Amino acid sequence: MHHRPLVVANWKMNGSKTLISDLEIGLGSSVLPSTVDIVLLPPSVYLAEVVMVAQQYGIQCGIQDSYVEEKGAFTGEISAEMVKDVGGEWALIGHSERREYFSEDDDLLARKFEAAVRADLRPILCVGESLEDRAQGRALEVVKKQLNSIADRVGPSFSRATVAYEPIWAIGTDQAATPDQVKDMHIAIRRELEEIDPSNGPQHRLLYGGSMQAANASTLLSIDEVDGGLIGGASLDMGEFLGIIAKAGEQ
Ligand code: PGA
Repeated sequence: MHHRPLVVANWKMNGSKTLISDLEIGLGSSVLPSTVDIVLLPPSVYLAEVVMVAQQYGIQCGIQDSYVEEKGAFTGEISAEMVKDVGGEWALIGHSERREYFSEDDDLLARKFEAAVRADLRPILCVGESLEDRAQGRALEVVKKQLNSIADRVGPSFSRATVAYEPIWAIGTDQAATPDQVKDMHIAIRRELEEIDPSNGPQHRLLYGGSMQAANASTLLSIDEVDGGLIGGASLDMGEFLGIIAKAGEQ
């Protein structure tokens, strides 16, 4: 690990008041490693409440998706400024589920990225190939294109990005990518970031996401080029999530 470890919980469209109580109990009964940064991304409706709990433990929060405009007649949308207003600090951009189910293209993602930076949120840009891309030997090409499409559109604000490599075929499948696959892709992403952004390339934190669990976290987090994890399913079980944080603390 080259940077301070970062463990991010992506609750997706999961969670409830009960999960927030579990979180409160879990955090209250654990000793969190002081060397690990922790971020929680609950559904937006719970964000303010989760922030109140998380702040007591030095944990930051953020949003899974926010809109490009600051305010106005955009029924149903939430602005990055509103996220900041209730204490959010981070914004997930370009998760494969947003790209696939909500047809978010690079133009929209770049505008969301810029809106997050405008509101002083820290963007986490997700990239990752499909199973078909990998089978056809196009995994790296696809990931590079995803990175460059956003970097070209957002310019210097790209330096604010944390990048999460999430192979789509490993998300929610209990089948994480192998350590070699993760290592190879992270090395390649790091090289690409250094080309895109020569002065900041080495600074970007680079996370792995896709079926990271307490049982495989040590293996994945011990890969030199991995600076942390983006955790979906396992973040909904406090024992699992705290287990991953503990493993990150051992790196
Ligand atoms: P998973 O999800 O941990 O459930 O595979 C990761 C993600 O989609 O961010």
